[in-house]
Amino acid sequence: MSRIIAIDGPAAAGKGTLAKRLAAHFGLPHLDTGLLYRATGRRVLDAGGNPADPATAAAAARALQPDDLARADLRGPEADNAAAQVAAIPAVRAALLDFQRSFGRTQGAVLDGRDIGTIVFPDATAKLFVTASVAARGQRRWRELQARGVAADLEAVTALIRERDAQAAARAAAPLVQAPDALPLDTTDLDADATFARALELLSDRLGTPAR
Ligand code: DC
Repeated sequence: MSRIIAIDGPAAAGKGTLAKRLAAHFGLPHLDTGLLYRATGRRVLDAGGNPADPATAAAAARALQPDDLARADLRGPEADNAAAQVAAIPAVRAALLDFQRSFGRTQGAVLDGRDIGTIVFPDATAKLFVTASVAARGQRRWRELQARGVAADLEAVTALIRERDAQAAARAAAPLVQAPDALPLDTTDLDADATFARALELLSDRLGTPAR
């Protein structure tokens, strides 16, 4: 099988930044799988539908096109909320499974999400489970919003992270759990560089160092 690096963990733990850097380092394509759920939610909203309705959301997931992932309106509270709703629907998750698996099948890939190591690629070459305290994740998300010029309240951002954690852990379809063979990486006290360095250490047994 091609090399698959699975990176799972809760919102704003640093998965995306880490996944991009690992992909560049190992010369693998990267897929942010959260975008699939965001784009599905966005399609439903565009059509005036309800993201919590299973039939509507599953049809939107099946109709997803690669271009949808490049849309500029996939971040922000509305898309966030719609994504969390569609992500709880089993038929949506099933519809997005093929896309994720075929993305990694030929060349290998780094994929980040919530269920990559448990469901999408249970046989991944290497799996990381990236976490950080709620306070650290709230701070990060808040800083990201500030950097994008979006006014936001730190308390409210942190409360939303807490709510997303509860939703992701409680949902019946693919709840967020650490795969038994995933290596834990707590980024609470690590910046992006230190997180990357630690990840390379953790992965070195399974992936070695890349050919340069
Ligand atoms: O990582 P993110 O915030 O962009 O994810 C958006 C939503 O999709 C979030 O509610 C979690 C969900 N998601 C999921 O259920 N499974 C994945 N593999 C990726 C994201």
